[in-house]
Amino acid sequence: MEINYQETSKDLLTRIDIHEKYGSANIDVWTNELLQTKPGMNILDVGCGAGKLCFLFDDYTKGAAKITGGDFSEELLEKARAKNAQRGSKVDFQFLDFNKPFAFADGTFDLCTSAFAIYYASDLDFTFGEAHRVLVPGGRLFVSGPLPENKQMFYDIIKEATNATIPPMPGSSRFKGDIFNTISRIFAKTELHKFENHLTFPEVAPFIDYVRASLSEDRKLWTSMFNGKDEYEALIGKIEAVAKKWFDRDGKLVMTKVVGGILATK
Ligand SMILES: C[S@@+](CC[C@H](N)C(=O)[O-])C[C@H]1O[C@@H](n2cnc3c(N)ncnc32)[C@H](O)[C@@H]1O
Repeated sequence: MEINYQETSKDLLTRIDIHEKYGSANIDVWTNELLQTKPGMNILDVGCGAGKLCFLFDDYTKGAAKITGGDFSEELLEKARAKNAQRGSKVDFQFLDFNKPFAFADGTFDLCTSAFAIYYASDLDFTFGEAHRVLVPGGRLFVSGPLPENKQMFYDIIKEATNATIPPMPGSSRFKGDIFNTISRIFAKTELHKFENHLTFPEVAPFIDYVRASLSEDRKLWTSMFNGKDEYEALIGKIEAVAKKWFDRDGKLVMTKVVGGILATK
């Protein structure tokens, strides 16, 4: 069986569900308090996936903002459209590849957001230049992503299980450095905010579900550790053995997500 290297909607939704079930803090509350979206705003969410942020803003503004969600995964866009119809919301979900020019006129949006997505952009100057271009003067950009200290326990368990070096993750390794610097060069004002969420797993199984759904997100980066399905399953087995050892020792497994939010003004 071939391993699918693309982020699947199932894996993304599994991770979102695990954060909701086992997390101590709610990233949605943090995002809403920080951004305070208002009725009448024109909002673009880049790399919207299944529409999580779009629906958050739609709820917060009671359906009174104009919201566009863009992603290059047709599978995730379909999920987002289905939920949109089910909720009776009017979010416009459309194809957008953030490595290509955005199909919007200059000065269209009051707010451009991107959660756990845009840091994979191949040319940061180009992509954040596009975000800047489509914003109105004084418009805001919000980009969230993992900070380097994010889910340290997850990497420590994998390190102990494999004795191997963890491949650098572009999300966390680029977020505070290149990405923050690029945005602050292009935008008039840039701030870094921080959100911490302790995920407490009451047993090993949901942690392993998280590991599977998480390795698949960055699967291309993890290939140095396995080749094909059998080696992948062997790796998961080793990770599970170490997780059990830690669980027996501590009575729980706690993983802390440390998320950065870059908020910039044009
Ligand atoms: C981890 S998911 C986050 C999705 C969503 N923002 C959320 O918070 O649930 C990353 C998203 O980035 C999208 N993505 C990756 N590369 C992209 C590109 N070049 N253009 C547009 N979207 C992209 C993926 O399809 C996926 O939906």
